[in-house]
Amino acid sequence: MSKLITVNMNRKPIYDIMIESDFAALPEKMKSLGYEKIKIAIVSDTLVAPIYAEQISELLRPLCSDIFVHAFPAGESHKNMDTVQEILKDFVEHHMNRHDLVVALGGGVVGDVAGFCASVYMRGIDVIQIPTTLLAQVDSSIGGKTGVDFLAYKNMVGAFKMPKLVYINTKTLDTLDERQYYAGMAEVLKYGLIMDASFYEWIISKMYEIHDKDAATIEEMVEHCCICKQRIVERDPLENGDRALLNLGHTIGHAIEKSKDFTLLHGECVALGIVAAAYISWKREKLSKDEYYEIRDMFVPFNLPISIDDIDDEEILRLTKSDKKADGGQIRFILLKKVGKAFIDKTLTDEEILNGIKEIHFVEDGE
Ligand SMILES: NC(=O)c1ccc[n+]([C@@H]2O[C@H](COP(=O)([O-])OP(=O)(O)OC[C@H]3O[C@@H](n4cnc5c(N)ncnc54)[C@H](O)[C@@H]3O)[C@@H](O)[C@H]2O)c1
Ligand SMILES: [Zn+2]
Repeated sequence: MSKLITVNMNRKPIYDIMIESDFAALPEKMKSLGYEKIKIAIVSDTLVAPIYAEQISELLRPLCSDIFVHAFPAGESHKNMDTVQEILKDFVEHHMNRHDLVVALGGGVVGDVAGFCASVYMRGIDVIQIPTTLLAQVDSSIGGKTGVDFLAYKNMVGAFKMPKLVYINTKTLDTLDERQYYAGMAEVLKYGLIMDASFYEWIISKMYEIHDKDAATIEEMVEHCCICKQRIVERDPLENGDRALLNLGHTIGHAIEKSKDFTLLHGECVALGIVAAAYISWKREKLSKDEYYEIRDMFVPFNLPISIDDIDDEEILRLTKSDKKADGGQIRFILLKKVGKAFIDKTLTDEEILNGIKEIHFVEDGE
């Protein structure tokens, strides 16, 4: 069953999110957006391109005067300015002009890099997002944030670049490895926790279908997440307020990601960060003890970590404080009032954050 969600800004429709189970509807939709006789650059990575780029090129070829694939090496370590430079060079060599189009085909890394290239090439050309990881389908492809890592900082250089279309083929998740799939579940659970308690209950009730990648369940789940993200980005497109709630678990999560040199996946670190944030929320008497343990333990059936060994608590604290989400030296931390309700807090002390980090730090003899 196809699903369509429209993202508006100032009450004007800006782009559609289509949720499909194949790529068949893509050419017609692109035609309706006015794309004809243009050049298309499919930007992808070396794992995704061999699986899907040919099929998409075939489908889109009738629409364009030239179509080419630029696949850069997969992985977060290539989300940098060198990759951007190579892609832009390729655009120039193919004589891409202002009316041409970038198609971002891949996970969040590809979406962020390709979107950023589209935002700067000739001061901006159109981009269509075709996300192929669960994380990208429920989160990164929507909302127009693009960018790359720079020096030691994640997403330090970037731009807001709204896509012209987000086309989700949920079947692409069939080729995604299990670990990546479950990492995406951390972001799915996050939506339930920050804004929708009944969705959170639904996810738990569909645990087995989610494990089995049951098509109807995945479609419904992806659709619901897209609606959550749409609501947030419509309310706060440039992250001046509520959009920050999406960072639940991300402040400590990013710190762990960095300290572990990106050997853990983003979603895995987010799960750990959410556990720490829920613990701090309990200690602040926002959540009850039972609520804290329920939230923590609910990551386990989705193969997500709730504790981690071999971290240096002080280092994580230091990295947490150097996260660019710190605002005038004060960290904007996202805490939970209850399942389905998050809030921004700027008053946490180092000690409270450190206690949250200690809670997820697994040491041999127990807690
Ligand atoms: N822009 C935003 O708003 C936003 C939001 C959240 C995360 N992000 C960014 O997203 C990135 C993480 O994205 P990700 O988790 O999708 O990682 P990713 O893009 O690195 O993809 C994970 C791995 O899966 C492979 N892959 C992707 N789709 C596949 C498929 N269908 N079949 C087989 N293999 C496939 C990729 O090649 C890669 O090796 C981070 O850089 C993060 O900063 C951005
Ligand atoms: Zn995230």
